[in-house]
Amino acid sequence: MALPLVVGNWKMHGTPAEAFSLARGIRTGLKRVQGVEVVLAPPFTSLSAVYKALRGRSIGLAGQNVFWQEQGAFTGEISPKMLLESGCGFVIVGHSERRRILGESDQFIGKKTVAALAAGLRPILCVGETLQERRQGSTRKIIGRQLRVALKGITKNAIGKIEIAYEPVWAIGTGRNATPDQISLAHQWIRELLRKLAGNEQAAKSRILYGGSVRPENAGDLARAPEVNGLLVGGASLKAESFLSIVNQFISI
Ligand code: 13P
Repeated sequence: MALPLVVGNWKMHGTPAEAFSLARGIRTGLKRVQGVEVVLAPPFTSLSAVYKALRGRSIGLAGQNVFWQEQGAFTGEISPKMLLESGCGFVIVGHSERRRILGESDQFIGKKTVAALAAGLRPILCVGETLQERRQGSTRKIIGRQLRVALKGITKNAIGKIEIAYEPVWAIGTGRNATPDQISLAHQWIRELLRKLAGNEQAAKSRILYGGSVRPENAGDLARAPEVNGLLVGGASLKAESFLSIVNQFISI
């Protein structure tokens, strides 16, 4: 298994100047990135500022979204190659905010995953159930469907290049994180499905991250939960101090 992965998803926060200064703060605090892989996902408009701020440090860059076409008349969209040339090694696909607010379907997300991978980006594929779905006992079914559809066009031997983020919708931005037991179980289901789809060897390569109200106070427990290979952090990644304190939980494990 690769190193644990901690991703800061800045969502729609920060101008390029603000993003530069936040990235600098994180860079300064992470003199040596050891035992953990750290990736920042600023808005598109700040990718170049963050790239400059991180220069010379092994901190990765991710897009928050991508389109599946290489180029063309797709107003407002960004291609995988554009992300690559902006310094990105990763891209978040299928975030629940895009599913819910922008109406992205599982099929849509599948096309993005295929295109990102083909271009050489590592997709961070987000899945997760709503509170209602959890209450109905359909968590496993929902994340299973999201994964199966998104991974449909991926060949077996490429599955290991995809990172999965389990982000229960009810835990995002609510201050109510899933418990380590709930997370471990969902991650176990995800791993089992990956094994079914791609075999043990490939399935073992994907990192399964947890996201949803990760804070410095709960990051230690979440990081140590069985089956957790990293964290996808929203709000708490917007301050260098809190993000660094979350990253440090992995360094000290
Ligand atoms: P919060 O950490 O703000 O709950 O957001 C989680 C998330 O959506 C990361 O992608």
